[in-house]
Amino acid sequence: MPLPYLKAVVHFLALLPAAWLMWQGWLLIDFQDNQLTANPIKYIHAFTGDWTIRFILLGLAITPLRRIFGWNILIKFRRMIGLYAFSYVVLHLLNFIVLDYYFDWPTILKEIIKRPAITFGMTAIILLTPLAVTSTRGWIRRLGGKWGKLHKLIYLIGILAVIHNFMMVKADIFQPLIHGIILAGLLGYRLYDKPVWKMRRT
Ligand code: HEM
Repeated sequence: MPLPYLKAVVHFLALLPAAWLMWQGWLLIDFQDNQLTANPIKYIHAFTGDWTIRFILLGLAITPLRRIFGWNILIKFRRMIGLYAFSYVVLHLLNFIVLDYYFDWPTILKEIIKRPAITFGMTAIILLTPLAVTSTRGWIRRLGGKWGKLHKLIYLIGILAVIHNFMMVKADIFQPLIHGIILAGLLGYRLYDKPVWKMRRT
């Protein structure tokens, strides 16, 4: 399949969760049956948070998949996947600011400072922002070799995201555990397969 079609398929798949969430939101405000449970804000937190981590892990899986199976085409989707991770975490943050705390900035600031789990999440989103901003061709050219170094921040972001995930789920740690194991595998691969550190974006 030609690359533009493949990209359209990936965009379609990546947008499906957001479209589904919007549809459920519409059903909720229209007083119809929906899947957002009795606590829609909590549900949206979990939904957008989980999709953010999935996209972060998917982005991190591209280098190992290229090196192990030679699927070099995957590099064409890495920027897109990273930007979807950023988009879903923006929805996650907006849910926190708008629906959860309704722009109550003093309380929002207090939560970010006083609740370590939120501090970890906030740090992750702050670090993710420059990666999203510098993902364009222009920035890649302007930053040269520094681009690769800057984008290694994604390893730290992955770790912060999984810690945040563990601290947020309270009781059932199955899902963060799975995320943690996958992340450990993806980061462990990079330690084991040293030349990967030297790989440039092609
Ligand atoms: C890269 C950054 C982030 C990632 C990957 C992320 C991911 C997650 C995940 C996976 C969950 C648990 C979902 C579940 O219950 O299954 C979660 C929960 C939560 N996150 Fe984040 N998050 C991030 C940043 C933030 C930020 C910046 C905030 C707020 C300032 C935030 C606020 C919350 C809250 C309040 C919950 C708990 C929802 C609840 O159960 O009541 N997160 N997040």
